[in-house]
Amino acid sequence: MSHGTLLPTHTKAVFLGEIAKYEGQTVTDFFAVAQKQFSRKRDGAVYLSLRLTDRTGQCEAKMWDNFEASAETFQAGDIIKVQVEVSGYNGRPQLTIKKLRKAAEDEYSLADFQPHTVHSIDDLWAKLNGFVDSFTDPFLQRLVRSFLDDPETASLLRGAPAAKYLHHAWIGGLLEHIVSLLGLCDRVTPHYPQVHRDLVMTGAILHDIGKLEELRWSLNFDYTLEGQLLGHITLGISMIEKKIAVIPDFPPRLRLLVEHIVLSHHGRYEFGSPKLPMTPDAILFHYLDDLDAKMYSVRTELDRSAQSGRGPDEMTDWVRSLERPLLDSQRFLDSPDSLGEADRKDVSESDGEVSVEVTIDALPAEE
Ligand SMILES: [Fe+2]
Ligand SMILES: [Fe+2]
Repeated sequence: MSHGTLLPTHTKAVFLGEIAKYEGQTVTDFFAVAQKQFSRKRDGAVYLSLRLTDRTGQCEAKMWDNFEASAETFQAGDIIKVQVEVSGYNGRPQLTIKKLRKAAEDEYSLADFQPHTVHSIDDLWAKLNGFVDSFTDPFLQRLVRSFLDDPETASLLRGAPAAKYLHHAWIGGLLEHIVSLLGLCDRVTPHYPQVHRDLVMTGAILHDIGKLEELRWSLNFDYTLEGQLLGHITLGISMIEKKIAVIPDFPPRLRLLVEHIVLSHHGRYEFGSPKLPMTPDAILFHYLDDLDAKMYSVRTELDRSAQSGRGPDEMTDWVRSLERPLLDSQRFLDSPDSLGEADRKDVSESDGEVSVEVTIDALPAEE
């Protein structure tokens, strides 16, 4: 313990991902402040409105009175200790802050506040390296290895989030996204003989490598100055060119195709690609990348919605990145109000042929 205090290191007990189960109780714990603002009630009175987060989720919190002095002591991005009353509003948890103060650095562990991949980073790293071992093109293998074997790049790549908000926005998120893409490439490329497997896989590993310089991540994820002014595609291209420059005899044609995949992976000008994908490898990679990002956004939104107390028959809020609300079809089917348990058994137990016949009198009454 630093500063020689006798206090034990605080282990967080209450996590926002399961805050709903504390409804009706008063809890005290540490949370990170994602957003801090002063709002006005209808009668004109000012209150403090915070978005609190930890590694499991986030929740709105309001402090109605006596917040002036304590609100001055912290900013968005700080960790605070709060005493809150947990209540429900429209089926969603709401926090009313009774007391708060800024936390001292030795009172909490940063890991409690950073969202983190649920997979082991070592396992993901081993899978990534396994895919690179399977390359048959020696130049692409060397290019990728020159990144993975660079200790500084490797340590950044093991921790980087894939995005600030949209998908895989957690520690280890970029690595998880890359390994997921490699799995997709491995299955899909044999289906299209006109694409170059190692080239598409190189795209999977390097397409967002510029994010190592575009984003910074400690408590919050944010953009670096280079990230804001140049963006990860430009940063990535320059990182790749530096590596290729020191690989003897790297074929210029291969370099062109690798750079084209990276440059065009967002697929459209308005999404930041300076060029549209124009080779079979780049077109395939763009769709796989988009698919993987979208499926993870969907998962994240559905989990968030379930955490906030939405039932299995309810749609999520409007999801801005996908321009639609979503329904968790798995949860919907598993809920008792949907197709009866006996009917599902009939379907799954028909050995060999899949039968989808459902007898009419087995349907729920309202059907
Ligand atoms: Fe990207
Ligand atoms: Fe990506």
